[in-house]
Amino acid sequence: MLIAQITDLHVTPAGTRAFGRVDTNAHLAAAVAHLNALDPRPDLVLITGDLANTPKPGEYEMLEELLAPLTLPCRVLPGNHDDRSALRRLFPYLPAEDPFLHHVVDEGPLRILMLDSQKTGFPEGELCAGRLAWIADRLAEEPGRPTLIAMHHQPFPTGLAIDTMGCAGAADLADLVRRSPAPVVGIVCGHVHRPITAGWAGTTVFCAPSTAHQFALDLAPGAGFGWTTEPPAVALHRWVPDSGLVTHLSLIGDYPRQRFG
Ligand SMILES: [Fe+2]
Ligand SMILES: [Fe+2]
Repeated sequence: MLIAQITDLHVTPAGTRAFGRVDTNAHLAAAVAHLNALDPRPDLVLITGDLANTPKPGEYEMLEELLAPLTLPCRVLPGNHDDRSALRRLFPYLPAEDPFLHHVVDEGPLRILMLDSQKTGFPEGELCAGRLAWIADRLAEEPGRPTLIAMHHQPFPTGLAIDTMGCAGAADLADLVRRSPAPVVGIVCGHVHRPITAGWAGTTVFCAPSTAHQFALDLAPGAGFGWTTEPPAVALHRWVPDSGLVTHLSLIGDYPRQRFG
């Protein structure tokens, strides 16, 4: 099973740029073209939050327009920048009754739990009692079934400024993952705007880079936020039953394949 992941699209109203600088809409158009050209074709695209930038009026209309050319099935979850109601309108498979947008993607051998970590109105994330109960129930209902968890906020400290926007309840999630009846083959996140891998709770957490701007790699204590034009990428998660989950980064840009000799 081949799963593509894009994240932190930060779409803005037509004709505008994120913080007046970054043409996130053009970046998403390039990401969609990149996804459509992948060979072999992924079975699914996961979009792990921050689809809109503010959100301001016009952003979700722009998102719909930019995702329309995507020829692969996609599933989304919210980030701190998103509006749940707008996402529900755009993606009718999202739960209408539940206050949260968590849902299960069960269309292949790997079961995917899309976990909503948004703390409404705040940049940091939160896994409240209700959401922890939801994930506990999902991990218990198919014991032995290989399972991937997708969420927006990273559940571990990165050493970067983004740690001020971490995820409350992460220690409780770690307990659930450690003693899960279903093996958790990995957790995929966004939010940190750069590629980061961590061993955590007996599994591997991978944070994908943004389709647009990245946060600067600055591990100095007390360093604030900065952003860079390091290349955006699509994460490709290849899952094979006997060898597990392997993650690649497919950089978006002009990097043609060369021949040796
Ligand atoms: Fe973001
Ligand atoms: Fe975020």
